[in-house]
Amino acid sequence: MPRLILGPERRTRLWVWCAAIICMIIAIAVIITGVVVFAGYMIMKPRIPSMSVNYAFLDKLNYDQSGQVTLQISLIIKAENENMKADASFSDVNFILNFHGLKIAELRADPFVLPKNDSVNLAYAVPSMSIPFEQDAWEDMVASVKQDKVSFSLKGDARTRWRVGIIGPVKFWTHLSCQLNFFASNGSSIKTHCSSKSR
Ligand SMILES: *[C@@H]1O[C@H](CO)[C@@H](O)[C@H](O)[C@H]1NC(C)=O
Ligand SMILES: *[C@@H]1O[C@H](CO)[C@@H](O)[C@H](O)[C@H]1NC(C)=O
Repeated sequence: MPRLILGPERRTRLWVWCAAIICMIIAIAVIITGVVVFAGYMIMKPRIPSMSVNYAFLDKLNYDQSGQVTLQISLIIKAENENMKADASFSDVNFILNFHGLKIAELRADPFVLPKNDSVNLAYAVPSMSIPFEQDAWEDMVASVKQDKVSFSLKGDARTRWRVGIIGPVKFWTHLSCQLNFFASNGSSIKTHCSSKSR
């Protein structure tokens, strides 16, 4: 009887079985970790602590022909922690209020902690001050007043830190970048959405 055997001997060696079992154990561990993290996420429903402009009012605005602009602005920035199970801390709060590239004021706050599901209003009163404007910025200001719409930009960020269940502390920078528009005639703000939360 002629017999033909091709190729190397095909016998599953012990180490192949061992490797397969180890791979399976690792795969199962990865799946279980994923499920636990996902369940933790769903239970905690972590929310990134946010900041938004709650109120803005142009208390005073006038200018003279020499390029001096007198301004007074009130702003309330709301810091919010929508997490139901975790306190959130805010630090390095720093926002810059600009008019056409000209820095009007820098808004800061000392580090603070917000309990779960809580919010705080940071009130800023930029006092009446007289600022010498460059020709360009002054012309922009005059034109905006004529159009009854004066725009400022508010930009900045804050460092936030909070715990997400078993994942542990999470750090996140919340950014705020928005345009604040006011009626020059009465100083009230034109409704604009300004929040670090993306919608
Ligand atoms: C969160 O706060 C809001 C109002 O601030 C309140 O109505 C709500 O019941 C609170 N939720 C929890 C779970 O405490
Ligand atoms: C401010 O003026 C604008 C337009 O001139 C007007 O639409 C707005 O209602 C006024 N706001 C208040 C609070 O009077």
